[in-house]
Amino acid sequence: MVPWMNEIQRRRTFAIIAHPDAGKTTLTEKLLLFGGAIQIAGAVKSNKINRSTTSDFLEIEKQRGISVSTSVMAFEYKGYKINILDTPGHEDFAEDTYRTLTAVDSVIMVIDCVKGVESQTRKLLEVCRMRNTPVIVFINKLDREGRDPFDLLDEIEKELKIKVFPMTWPIGIGKSFKGVYHLHDKQLNLFNNENKFVRAENIVSIKDIHSNELDNNLGENFAQKLREDVEIIQSVYDVFEKEEYLKGNISPVFFGSAVNNFGIQELLDTFVEIAPAPTGRQSDKKWIPSDYPQFTGFVFKIHANLDPRHRDRIAFLRIVSGKFERNKNYFHTRHKKWLKFSNPTAFMAQQKSVIDEAYPGDVIGLYDSGNFKIGDTLTEGEDLQFKGIPAFSPEVFKYVVNKDPMKTKQLQKGLEQLTDEGVAQLFSKKTDNRKIVGTVGQLQFEVLQHRLAHEYSAKCDFDSLPIYKAVWLVSDNDKKLQEFINDKAQYIAYDKLNRPVFLAESAWLLQMAQEKYPEIKFFTMNEFD
Ligand code: G4P
Repeated sequence: MVPWMNEIQRRRTFAIIAHPDAGKTTLTEKLLLFGGAIQIAGAVKSNKINRSTTSDFLEIEKQRGISVSTSVMAFEYKGYKINILDTPGHEDFAEDTYRTLTAVDSVIMVIDCVKGVESQTRKLLEVCRMRNTPVIVFINKLDREGRDPFDLLDEIEKELKIKVFPMTWPIGIGKSFKGVYHLHDKQLNLFNNENKFVRAENIVSIKDIHSNELDNNLGENFAQKLREDVEIIQSVYDVFEKEEYLKGNISPVFFGSAVNNFGIQELLDTFVEIAPAPTGRQSDKKWIPSDYPQFTGFVFKIHANLDPRHRDRIAFLRIVSGKFERNKNYFHTRHKKWLKFSNPTAFMAQQKSVIDEAYPGDVIGLYDSGNFKIGDTLTEGEDLQFKGIPAFSPEVFKYVVNKDPMKTKQLQKGLEQLTDEGVAQLFSKKTDNRKIVGTVGQLQFEVLQHRLAHEYSAKCDFDSLPIYKAVWLVSDNDKKLQEFINDKAQYIAYDKLNRPVFLAESAWLLQMAQEKYPEIKFFTMNEFD
């Protein structure tokens, strides 16, 4: 057992995921308030980009600044060290969110009780399922006239293909919202919307819901309805097994209203109790458990240009195992070189501070002058590489058009570095030497153009390229692979690691290619084994 076992066990590293507007920012803020990490509401800024026009560049810039300070929010609560990893609100930045999800051990998913399951929730949950990430559901905005709670649970089970288990249960909804009943702790938490920023204190213990005490607190009608609901819940939902939650098979559900600070205490108390402590990660050589004695970690996010006057970048590293120490040499396994960090930062709530040591589950910020790429691994000398930070095929593709031939080098460098940060993916064609940029949404092209101009003094335009998907090609049969590459020369490009990619114009053409070349495997994700 490592001497810092207690540090590992008391850490909870998670992300809050939600469709925009469901209440992620509000919930984050309330959790920080509960943890005493911030004192006033309104301190956490939403990282939403509501409009996506060119005139919003300033907004985007501001956004990047803000989201750095809120990228990781750590606080202490009841002896636990909680690390919340923030995810971008805009769906064009979904790829960024997927990568952040590789660095957490569990998630809290927020659902708006009026809207139910929305498109972004669906996609994010798919990523969680791929990795068996444990999920807790928070159904928000109970102070609004939302949907019937049973319907909501049904929808979550059907649409997201997960099993749910209600931990609390709402009494009334919207104007008649009375509070929630904790099914496990057998406590009634009464809603008082004038009590916005203090802890919920209106808690009544009701051991027997058939007692008159329930009627005294809720009135006869609501008390009766709750009794009926509880009977249904007991007959429909299995018992809650923590093991099943930890495997990602069952999701406990809480009801509340983030803006009213209601239902958060129940959520947070259960979260720290059941959510997993830092788990290990798979490397290309072996599984690295969190109590592995040597230090290991991987970069899942890179942010550039925090301060426009300096050109520094900050790489966010999730510690998988061991103890990280300031000024110690660590091995960068891709470059095969040793690096030392004199100013590693930790993020407590909204403040950054230099730290001397950090433990598994923590995320630290490393100042970087261009050494890091997303997915890079640091160790104490072992030559291994963490897996599981895949890039998916982009959705939108464009040719890069250099608008200032005098600045070709700057453009090249800018494209290389910005794509290292994961702003977009870069492909090169060998037939005509053209560069292709692929993204999840339109917004990234604007961000790229803007940043190339401001940070690299390079001007470029983009020509549209109607491609359906970029598919990575892998085959044991080199001859066949080469034959395919020759056959489709015009539609073959290479990624940054010089791996061949087929740019399929349509699903049908992709299928045709697959049928004609059964010896080749076609991957829409760049991690194959
Ligand atoms: P997001 O980060 O998931 O995109 O959502 P965010 O927290 O920004 O919340 C979106 C809107 O929903 C905000 O209103 C917020 O105040 C509201 N909201 C959050 N929780 C609740 C709740 O429990 N009940 C109700 N009724 N509303 C809630 P907004 O008008 O967009 O912004 P604001 O001006 O109120 O901040």
